[in-house]
Amino acid sequence: MKRVLLDKEQIFTGPLILVNKEHPLRKTIGRQELRVVGRGVKLQREAALQLKLLLEEQSEIISVSGFRSHKEQKNLYQQSLRDNGENFTRNYVALPRCSEHECGLAIDLGENKEPIDEICPSFPYTGPCQDFRNKAPWFGFVQRYEKGKEAATGIAHEPWHFRYVGFPHSLIMQEKALSLEEYLEFLRKEKRIVWSCGHKSIEIQYISAGTEGAAAEIPEGRPYQISGDNEGGIVVTLW
Ligand code: DAL
Ligand code: ZN
Repeated sequence: MKRVLLDKEQIFTGPLILVNKEHPLRKTIGRQELRVVGRGVKLQREAALQLKLLLEEQSEIISVSGFRSHKEQKNLYQQSLRDNGENFTRNYVALPRCSEHECGLAIDLGENKEPIDEICPSFPYTGPCQDFRNKAPWFGFVQRYEKGKEAATGIAHEPWHFRYVGFPHSLIMQEKALSLEEYLEFLRKEKRIVWSCGHKSIEIQYISAGTEGAAAEIPEGRPYQISGDNEGGIVVTLW
């Protein structure tokens, strides 16, 4: 076993960070970590790479909105308040610093058909959009704001908003029908789960961090990934 020391700052970064009204973004993403996915839309490097694989060369789906700076989210929120009123805005636009778009892990996708609504693009449950939806968890993406999860997420049903959480978390969340809020709560409670896919076993550990950070015991030679939860712990994924 090797002991890996995890810095407290690691709580606030990684593909599993929870960003919502109760968990504002703590660390701003550097421009150098972003990559273009299409139409000038950018995502964090790993998310961008997976989205490109997922979309391949097809032209029926377009990237409407990805990374937004704090200023862009603030402007969008203010603009929506003026154009659409408070009720709509509260349901469909996250408060500045509380939007997943500010961490570069969220993408709004739309059917490539004019007119394209910039806040609520059409992304139906049929045809190429549904094919994308079916494949997304295999590439680390989940539909983030599902119908029936409004109480957990604080956001209305958004068929167009996908969030990169990384594989296999995306597939587990889909299998168990859990929102990110619920999945992290599940990991905090379980502390350790083993998930099997074919003949592969993947172990997922949740480690609570103290003021000094945390430590993980990693078996020698085993590949692993680390992500904070943006609350108080770190998720270790052992392949
Ligand atoms: N539409 C989502 C909730 C956002 O603004 O981040
Ligand atoms: Zn979105």
